[in-house]
Amino acid sequence: MHLSVALWACGALLAVLLTWQQRKSWRLIWQLNGWRGVVQQPLLWILLCLNLHPNSILEKVTKYRVYFQRPMAVLVGTRVLVYIDDPAGMECILNAPECLDKTFLQDGFFVRRGLLHARGQRWKLRRKQLNPAFSHNIVASFFDVFNSVGNQIIEQFLSQPDLHGKGVKFTDVEDLLSRAVLEVSCLTIMGTPTNFTQIDDAHIAHSYKRLLEISAVRVVKPWLQIRLLHRLLAPELYEESRKCCKLLADFVGEIVTTKHRNWRLRDAVGGETPGEDSSAGWQRRIFIEQIFQLAANGEMTLEEIMHEAQSMVLVSFETVSNSIMLALLCLATNKGDCQRRLLAEIRAVVPDSGHVGLEQLQQLRYLDAFVSESLRLLATVPMNLRHVSRDFQLAGRDAIVPQNSIIVLDTFNMQRDERWWGPTAKQFDPQRFLDHEEQSKGHDNPGSGSGTGSGDPRRQRDRRHSYSFLPFSNGLRSCIGMSPLRTFIMKVFLVKLISNFDFQSDFELEKLQFVENISLKFKNADDILLAIQPHKQSKESP
Ligand code: HEM
Ligand SMILES: *[C@@H]1O[C@H](CO)[C@@H](O)[C@H](O)[C@H]1NC(C)=O
Ligand SMILES: *[C@@H]1O[C@H](CO)[C@@H](O)[C@H](O)[C@H]1NC(C)=O
Repeated sequence: MHLSVALWACGALLAVLLTWQQRKSWRLIWQLNGWRGVVQQPLLWILLCLNLHPNSILEKVTKYRVYFQRPMAVLVGTRVLVYIDDPAGMECILNAPECLDKTFLQDGFFVRRGLLHARGQRWKLRRKQLNPAFSHNIVASFFDVFNSVGNQIIEQFLSQPDLHGKGVKFTDVEDLLSRAVLEVSCLTIMGTPTNFTQIDDAHIAHSYKRLLEISAVRVVKPWLQIRLLHRLLAPELYEESRKCCKLLADFVGEIVTTKHRNWRLRDAVGGETPGEDSSAGWQRRIFIEQIFQLAANGEMTLEEIMHEAQSMVLVSFETVSNSIMLALLCLATNKGDCQRRLLAEIRAVVPDSGHVGLEQLQQLRYLDAFVSESLRLLATVPMNLRHVSRDFQLAGRDAIVPQNSIIVLDTFNMQRDERWWGPTAKQFDPQRFLDHEEQSKGHDNPGSGSGTGSGDPRRQRDRRHSYSFLPFSNGLRSCIGMSPLRTFIMKVFLVKLISNFDFQSDFELEKLQFVENISLKFKNADDILLAIQPHKQSKESP
């Protein structure tokens, strides 16, 4: 009798202590969602526990989010998770100096030592050091690389008769395309020619993708961040990730070492490149040559350079190849006149798709809208996470987000939300970006197109929140480089593909089953068939 009373008392005391210890988290939950927020916690825990897999989490968040008041906070263990899916919330978080770091959930990334995952002061320094490597001039000098690899891919498409049948698998096209983009990445980041577009015997491209997928598992199952547990609980994944990591570390390591040796030799003889074509001016400007200079000044070690190269190849490869595939999917499934308009515009501006130039890209306005719209509807990077390094106030609310909270930024759902994109939010319609551009130029047509349109963030304050379109994130820790540059390679490839082939698919976009594997994937990707037919050879306008 007395014993049980004592136990109860102990239990109650413990509960009070725990609540006290987490009082800031509970206060935030209260401030954001009131009583409802507190009462719904157990429900959220159950929902979370049931869906801890990259294959289901995005789909379930998309389905259940509408039943909750957002922004929303849920207590997970000792931390509070804050879910944000509105432009104002995004703006606040992406610009808050307290929210610049990535979370411990992302420690499982194999490239965690590069810029992508660096924290605090280290990140600041790195970002400052690396920024110049992505200036306009440098990227503009890569057009020859984009074109030559792009032409190779067209040849590959043409030379493989099984590729332009009535239906090739989306995943097969993806495989081919991602190898081509990886070749571009290796050239632009490390200045190293590879034959990945033709052949990838060592499965380098595949290893990069598998490691991303494994990282995605470790984000949703954080206990796998602990090496021992990863090894014990998921031995197969552990082994696979170890093998892939080693393969990629060796691949990049060897390139960096060779490059560095050549660079030092060249430095010693005063600018001549031994064994390399010295006429290739762009070779001097590639990412890795720029950071060798940092190493020479003692600002970085060779090992750190390898990590940076590793991480750069990853970010510039998967995102770009995935974005191109998503755009092709939108194109092939579109029943409207999108493809016809694109082709007409391209034929008018680019007479020879064998060489696409920077000035030409800048004239392709419909292509621009098409790319933006596909990045809006199918955000390549669906969600971002941020770690809160100090208590801070959520703008426009009385809510204080405590230190060590984890912020989930749901770009994917925000960019498909009727609240910001109007009733056609879930449809693919490039016109909305053109309409918006018109409106922002000052042509006021009141009453029309309300709730559609976006584009340059600076010009759309009146109609739509500039943070409602964030495919590249925003703020201090956004995708590196100036905004048009990231899409150059995408556009060069798309111009070549669209001017050579017709893409059709019977698949419907509404049937996509979304998977959060760091970059956006589909559970039913195998059901997607693309019909790719070469256009008639004549180059005349249709
Ligand atoms: C269409 C293609 C691309 C998309 C959709 C994209 C998207 C993104 C997004 C959403 C982030 C923010 C991640 C976060 O906050 O968690 C990011 C970061 C980054 N991106 Fe991209 N990106 C693309 C292409 C590229 C390319 C071509 C490069 C470079 C060669 C690049 C370099 C980076 C780097 C270095 C970061 C990390 C920045 C930092 O943490 O300071 N991205 N990207
Ligand atoms: C690429 O292939 C060509 C011919 O197929 C070959 O001469 C060249 O050495 C290969 N390059 C690499 C980096 O494997
Ligand atoms: C996503 O990653 C998981 C975990 O590795 C994997 O099982 C699944 O096949 C991947 N899904 C897609 C569609 O790529």
